[in-house]
Amino acid sequence: MMKTKNNSYIGIFDSGVGGLTLLPALESLLPNEKFLYISDDAFAPYGKKDKNEIINRCKIVTQNLINKGCKLIIVACNTATTNAIDILRNDFPIPFIGIEPAIKPAALESKTKVIGVLATKGTLSSSLFAKTSATITKDVQVIEQVGEGLVELIETGSLNSPDLTKLLESYINPMLDQNIDTLVLGCTHYPFLISRLKNMLPENVKIIDSADAVAKQTLKVLLNNNLECLYTKKGSVEFISSSKKSSLYNFLPNETLVTVLNSDFS
Ligand code: DGL
Repeated sequence: MMKTKNNSYIGIFDSGVGGLTLLPALESLLPNEKFLYISDDAFAPYGKKDKNEIINRCKIVTQNLINKGCKLIIVACNTATTNAIDILRNDFPIPFIGIEPAIKPAALESKTKVIGVLATKGTLSSSLFAKTSATITKDVQVIEQVGEGLVELIETGSLNSPDLTKLLESYINPMLDQNIDTLVLGCTHYPFLISRLKNMLPENVKIIDSADAVAKQTLKVLLNNNLECLYTKKGSVEFISSSKKSSLYNFLPNETLVTVLNSDFS
């Protein structure tokens, strides 16, 4: 039987540039795959929207990726995953990979038994996050911090700006005062701040980021579904944005093509 789907795209989406932080791990583990990345700039940030708005938007983006032939979709956004992935899995006939704050691995790593989670309001208020959190809070204290305003500042591309440093410090210092020794980056935009964070955090505080785990899970699901790419040539990444003012332009090399569609993807 011809495996027609195997060489189709893997879809990836986020409200903006956050999903880019997953690409190096994905490209290194899945070097022959073709990725199609949607940056939903017209609707960013997701983190401040309510659950129903996030679900509706995720359905529109997903439908668009499926219309373009995607065989699997990576929801490269903690806010979208924690609010919408159950519904996407129920409503669409392809496999989905999500990303959510890695508090379980952090709890296992922690010696002080106090872990910090920096994420959007949408993620921290989701029932999926509450459910996961409830499974570990017997042994570990979880300090939740909404990263209000960080996504907007990151999207400008000025990752070393004094405003960004000041805001980040105002979130990190209170968590350090409470003795965290692991910091979970619960938003895919935040790995862009890892070098800033390393300057701010004492050496004993470990940063937990889930890019490698997402790549490994993607490989596993591709293999389990017989969907792995059959090409032996190097893969590629194509970019779509729902806005002319895409934040992708602040991060990708100048010559990269970004296809701009209307905000309803028509
Ligand atoms: N990158 C998204 C996440 O992982 C959030 C960005 C936003 O608020 O739109 O949660």
